[in-house]
Amino acid sequence: MTRPAILFVCLGNICRSPLAEAAFRVRAAEAGLDVAVDSAGTGAWHVGEPPDWRAQATARRHGIDISHCRGRQVSPADFRHFSHIFALDRDNLAGLRGLAPDDATAEVSLLLDLVPGWEGQSVADPYYGEEAGFEQTWAQVEGAADALVARLTRERGG
Ligand code: 4NP
Repeated sequence: MTRPAILFVCLGNICRSPLAEAAFRVRAAEAGLDVAVDSAGTGAWHVGEPPDWRAQATARRHGIDISHCRGRQVSPADFRHFSHIFALDRDNLAGLRGLAPDDATAEVSLLLDLVPGWEGQSVADPYYGEEAGFEQTWAQVEGAADALVARLTRERGG
């Protein structure tokens, strides 16, 4: 199997997808998976910006520094470069499907479809809410990270 390359996509790439990237990066390393990981946004408003300070604080509470991350917008090339693209919510899944070029090879799906019992659900956008919403985001992306590590470990053959 070729090395999996995973892209997490939300709207701004400053709240949810950097947290999904961080949670999965740590879990994959703990599991000894050889995998490429990145995140992006369907929107361009926050290109070049670090994650929202509330997302940075949430990651820090869980022992992870995401201050180096910079927002970027998803591009057509991403659909060839990555093996799996996970949308954080249904709106961005629809947006991704609209952006996919004809020669896309990536498997595009909804992140929480990975988690038994959470299928079809979106990771709620915490941007306009209270800081506590970011802990809920963390719980969801951590659950998805565990499920994705389990799946890739199975596909690797144990
Ligand atoms: P994210 O959150 O998609 O989880 O990064 C948002 C960030 C920015 C905006 C919306 C959602 N915004 O409208 O600028």
